[in-house]
Amino acid sequence: MTLKSTPTAYGAVAAGLHWLSVLLIVALLASGMLADQASDPAAKTSILAAHAPMGIAILILTLARIVWWWRFDTHPQPLPDPAWQVMTAKALHGLLYVVVLGMAASGIGMFVLSGAGEIVFGGAALPLPDFADFTPRIPHGIGAKLLLALFIGHAGAALYHHFVKRDATLKRMWFSR
Ligand code: HEM
Ligand code: HEM
Repeated sequence: MTLKSTPTAYGAVAAGLHWLSVLLIVALLASGMLADQASDPAAKTSILAAHAPMGIAILILTLARIVWWWRFDTHPQPLPDPAWQVMTAKALHGLLYVVVLGMAASGIGMFVLSGAGEIVFGGAALPLPDFADFTPRIPHGIGAKLLLALFIGHAGAALYHHFVKRDATLKRMWFSR
């Protein structure tokens, strides 16, 4: 497997960035929902102490991914699917980038505006702020639902291609070639 993509398959860097991002996003969605529902302030602080750094990590990874595609790599040729499917997939991939960046930005916004960073990372005394008092909590909540829907649609499409159409869509985003 080559580092860069070829006309028929994703390279190791693109696939590595993709699957590492998937792991982080699953952990972020799960930990975010747990933080939202946590009633014990100490437990919520511990969850956010993992959630926020993972959010910063996905921000850096996503920016690295954009630079990788922009400067160093070219996407493989689309598989012979109807034009509307190729266009829809492209648009959804673009939207995934936008929503992930928006989630990271609004998460950082909540921390900066509320001063939660000093409690979660600086050892300052509880109570945690009520994040609902800060405007970025609104796009963070809407973005969370949108990301979950995009995740299900995108993964569902990949699994449909793999198991029903039995084409190379999923295989060419994997490493065992
Ligand atoms: C792509 C990155 C991120 C994802 C996918 C994500 C996901 C989530 C989700 C699913 C929720 C629960 C929302 C709800 O149920 O309405 C949440 C809440 C939250 N997230 Fe994130 N998050 C990300 C980045 C960040 C970052 C970078 C920070 C802070 C630096 C952060 C701080 C918070 C806070 C403070 C809450 C609110 C908890 C509450 O209202 O009780 N998030 N996040
Ligand atoms: C929320 C998590 C995910 C995000 C943000 C994401 C994002 C993306 C993006 C942006 C691309 C375009 C290539 C690129 O820019 O690197 C892509 C391609 C792809 N993704 Fe995901 N993905 C996620 C989850 C998944 C999952 C769970 C699967 C499999 C079940 C999957 C399978 C694929 C496949 C097969 C491609 C190649 C599609 C093609 O060649 O047209 N992705 N993904």
